Amino acid sequence: MASPNATNSSASANVEKAEFEAGLMARDHVRLSLSLDGDQIVSAHLRAVGCGELLNLVAAIRPQLRGNLGDLLLPEGSGHAVLLLREVLLKAQGRWSFPYQEEELCHCRAVPTKKVDEAIVSGCHTPEDVSRATRASTSCGTCRPDVNAIINYRLGRDSK
Ligand code: FES
Repeated sequence: MASPNATNSSASANVEKAEFEAGLMARDHVRLSLSLDGDQIVSAHLRAVGCGELLNLVAAIRPQLRGNLGDLLLPEGSGHAVLLLREVLLKAQGRWSFPYQEEELCHCRAVPTKKVDEAIVSGCHTPEDVSRATRASTSCGTCRPDVNAIINYRLGRDSK
């Protein structure tokens, strides 16, 4: 078990550092820097740039970043700040498993996956909302299940 102050002792030999990020292009961004001894958090630095909602949530989460990494609770809700924080924490826990891997999601309209995901994080929580915001799924419709899968994943409907 690492002491919170372990830095130079032999105990620090097992301490590893890792960084995890999530963000929206040119908007809100969150970065979590961890020092870990196994699954135990030795130190954690959570920083954010962006709106008040995100900064307030980060401030509320910071005191919880201790103990066993796997025991950290994910924030609940569907606002963009919650979704970004959830992404960072899932990445840190090794549980981030985004359901679509290709760069372009809608081939008919040449819509990048990143654009669809950002629309979802920003509040488009139905396929219709995503279509209006990005033009994805407005032609053959074969990409619609993938849009739906990302919505469900982002909203935590299938990540348990
Ligand atoms: S692939 Fe998206 S509408 Fe055809």
